Amino acid sequence: MKDSNELPVTSNESKNNKESEDLPLVTRHSLLILGIDTSCDDTSASVVADGEKILSNIVSSQSDIHKKYGGIVPELASRRHIEMIWPVVEEALAAAGLSLHDMQAIAVCHGPGLIGSLLVGCGFAKAAGYARNIPTIAVNHLEGHIFSTFLESKRPGFPFLSLIVSGGHTSLYMINGFGQYDELGRTRDDAAGEAYDKVSKLLGLGYPGGPVIDRLSGEGDPKAFDFPRAYIPESFDFSFSGLKTAVKLTIEKNPRFTGDQSSLRDIAASFQSAVVDVLVRKVEWAIIKKGIRRVVLSGGVSANSELRRRMREMADEREVELFLPSTELCTDNAAMIAAAGYYHFIAGDIAGLDLNPKAYLPLR
Ligand code: KG4
Ligand code: ZN
Repeated sequence: MKDSNELPVTSNESKNNKESEDLPLVTRHSLLILGIDTSCDDTSASVVADGEKILSNIVSSQSDIHKKYGGIVPELASRRHIEMIWPVVEEALAAAGLSLHDMQAIAVCHGPGLIGSLLVGCGFAKAAGYARNIPTIAVNHLEGHIFSTFLESKRPGFPFLSLIVSGGHTSLYMINGFGQYDELGRTRDDAAGEAYDKVSKLLGLGYPGGPVIDRLSGEGDPKAFDFPRAYIPESFDFSFSGLKTAVKLTIEKNPRFTGDQSSLRDIAASFQSAVVDVLVRKVEWAIIKKGIRRVVLSGGVSANSELRRRMREMADEREVELFLPSTELCTDNAAMIAAAGYYHFIAGDIAGLDLNPKAYLPLR
């Protein structure tokens, strides 16, 4: 086995062994972390150098398995993770041109998420870490989303306001530093992505709902239906279940809408406009109340084209800096777990072999 102090060099360095004009992707000083995320329905592994350089980021989607059920079937998800975890890790290492021997640590998501899915990732990370004698790092999934923007060239400084909008979460945090997280509000019922997925199922558009509603909305009239917006005064909390019910009632009263493309586009656009109005208004209110100058979006719904457009518009008006992850880093991926894992590693926060995943895991 390679001495753990002897770090890998780039293929450029090893092949050419001469001064190169190009900066090497991995240098002798790089800290290499293998990230793993199996929190929900995607199996993902990634190699990240120094918490900021993505060398590989492989995501194996299970959408095809779950789409016929209109949502994720937890038992099927965990079984598929078992089949995919090793091939996905191998692919991530191969794409980075490295091996498990080259890794200094394995960062794994230990919650929140589906317990059967999380168990697969955590079990794998602990076993591989033990076999290679390298530390395992436990990362909260939400922390991963928050730090996804740290993988972009433009990185936010602290403090910043963080809106996490995904299939499982819709939360607003003040991030004062690494490990200093102050929750301002969260959804009281459905997450924004969950609302997208449920409305998509109602409209017969399949799973996941976000991307298809996003696309259809571009061709629809956002004012065609007056769906409710739950602004919840004097609170940073959110609520999307009333909106979902309003869409459901509209369709029940007018069953012909689901067979009519133009009505579908208008419903999609009107629903999306209601979601985006609430998210933008809440963030704007937090900017004013907290006097914060930086805003970071993350999670699957932050890939939404209308949300990105409207958030940019508001941020420009308010003269605040807005940080949006690239769309591949919005949805679940293991690079974000490795990025957050890097900060745990340098703080000496290492997990033991008794690490157990948790379906419910508040961010502290
Ligand atoms: O972050 P993520 O991959 O998984 C969770 O942690 O939940 O988010 C998945 C969610 C799904 O609900 C999906 O419908 C939604 O993100 N999503 C979108 C878009 N792309 C994915 N929602 C709106 N617009 C999109 N373009
Ligand atoms: Zn997620």
